[in-house]
Amino acid sequence: MSTAGRIPKEFIDQLLTRVDIIEVIGARVPLKKAGREYMACCPFHNEKTPSFTVSPTKQFYHCFGCGVHGSAISFLMEYEHLEYVEAIEALARSAGVQVPREGAEDAPKRKRVGKDVYALMEESVAWFQSQLKQSPSAREYLQKRGLSAEVITLFGVGYAPAGWDNLGRHLAHYGNDKLLETGMATRNEAGKVYDRFRERIMFPIRDKRGRVIGFGGRVLGNDTPKYLNSPETDIFHKGSELYGLFEARQHTRKLERLLVVEGYMDVIALAQYGITYAVATLGTATTPEHVRQLFRVVPEIIFCFDGDRAGKQAAWRALENSLSELQDDKNVRFLFLPTGEDPDTHIRQIGKEAFETALDKALPLTKFFLIGLNAQLGFRENYTLNVMEDRTRFVKEAAGLLAKMPNILQKKQLMPELVRLGYLDEGQKKIFKSYSPAPQDEPSAGNWRLNEQEVRRTPMRHAIALLLNYPALAHDVGNPEQWARYDIPGIDLFLAILEIIEADPTIHTAALVERFRGTQHARVLARLNSGQFQYEADSDVPAREFRDCLGQIRRQAQQKQLDVLLQREQVEGLTEQERNDLLCLLSEVHKSAG
Ligand code: UTP
Ligand code: MN
Repeated sequence: MSTAGRIPKEFIDQLLTRVDIIEVIGARVPLKKAGREYMACCPFHNEKTPSFTVSPTKQFYHCFGCGVHGSAISFLMEYEHLEYVEAIEALARSAGVQVPREGAEDAPKRKRVGKDVYALMEESVAWFQSQLKQSPSAREYLQKRGLSAEVITLFGVGYAPAGWDNLGRHLAHYGNDKLLETGMATRNEAGKVYDRFRERIMFPIRDKRGRVIGFGGRVLGNDTPKYLNSPETDIFHKGSELYGLFEARQHTRKLERLLVVEGYMDVIALAQYGITYAVATLGTATTPEHVRQLFRVVPEIIFCFDGDRAGKQAAWRALENSLSELQDDKNVRFLFLPTGEDPDTHIRQIGKEAFETALDKALPLTKFFLIGLNAQLGFRENYTLNVMEDRTRFVKEAAGLLAKMPNILQKKQLMPELVRLGYLDEGQKKIFKSYSPAPQDEPSAGNWRLNEQEVRRTPMRHAIALLLNYPALAHDVGNPEQWARYDIPGIDLFLAILEIIEADPTIHTAALVERFRGTQHARVLARLNSGQFQYEADSDVPAREFRDCLGQIRRQAQQKQLDVLLQREQVEGLTEQERNDLLCLLSEVHKSAG
């Protein structure tokens, strides 16, 4: 597995045509035929009645319960915890074909990580564990902290002894470069390479497939820094990895919720006391990427913080970074512990049952949103906003936060509350208006324009979703060049999809979506292609809707061009060509309005 080149797109298309998603999924999950589709209880969330559907025509799966969806490749990635390339290799093996690679000069920029890097990390874990057995002081420390032998083994806790090159000598066969590359060793100014972790309790950090990618190391006493973590490396990314996630998933195949805490010791103590679904960020604030990772696994995340000021502040950051990831069926809640407690100390005092009772009562995001907003602005709790300037700040702050949220129920519930709390008058209320159930396009209200990030079903978005689901609709588009002139958000993606279908008119939904994996369009596509189209094969509804959308897009684009030209005519006058365009546009707009 050296630096192999990129896998050609065409190969992936062909592979997805060649394998049958029904067989791929059917081999792992019992599928039942229901009409043209196949159904099953979703393997990715807990349910008693099946809402997981697989479409043989689209070669796509979609769960109406938890929203997961994708191609055979995505399925293997999620179900078998494989990386993208590994999933392709697995599919190719099952189809009996070889994965071709493009020339090395086309190789992706990101370095492929050699197997020996993971082997080095795994050997380190084993060695730290053996060192723990031989160190009375380390064992005594863990005992004093109350860790059972069971969780020590479960989490692979070990010990890095004193000395500058114990690990380095043990792993000398890997060479200094590998030790430095993995962050297990570091180099001083004189160029001397030595062990990064010395005299520390070692916590191995695993990725979601269980491979060790980094370590946290804690001093036995009161030295600083208390914890030392592996640096960012090719395999270790603090912004997206979570400590304990692998262990939690090992313990429970279908998790219902995950608890996010701050420390290694918190995760381990909670597990020891029976709360086996806690994870920790790695000495960093929670990122949207963390939240996204967690929502792939469970529909509910509970953040658990100390109830003091610092804890509240950390919780607020977690809230801010969660907003963009919320969905109607994906929730975030907050649990604040008594001041001075962390989950480690608290669970030891109150036990599993009381802790879970507290979890059940954790604050919903909307509640903490309102409380936290006041605190952020420096207002005391229940402060009445009777000063104009305060109201303005309140509205601005709230508007900025709402703009991060997709248009979901929680957002609609927040708005009347914000209007009430902010004592907003009619003019100010308008700021929130774009969230009313029937959104109207209206001119932006200065800086407070909110609808930028909204994932509303614009005609363009709807057209793209239809095209993905019914690639044959591409026939109806006509000359793409005519569309290329239109300056409408989403037109790039629309044209890119058309181009792919033109090159291969038989391409199906799954292969189309795969083409955009890892591109800037991937997230939009994932949201758009959420399995809402269930028309019979001979239905003419999709075609009609598609034509409607095209008409609306055209009108929207023409109106926009018209506005620009009319404006320019007033200000600086038009060239002959522009005057011609203007006349054409006017007559077209007139026609389509009639
Ligand atoms: P805490 O200081 O709350 O420690 O840091 P803790 O988890 O309660 O640990 P104990 O109970 O004193 O052993 C919380 C987390 O912040 C990161 C670590 O990930 C730690 O688990 N941290 C803390 C660091 O990365 N470096 C530090 O020096 C301190
Ligand atoms: Mn602690």
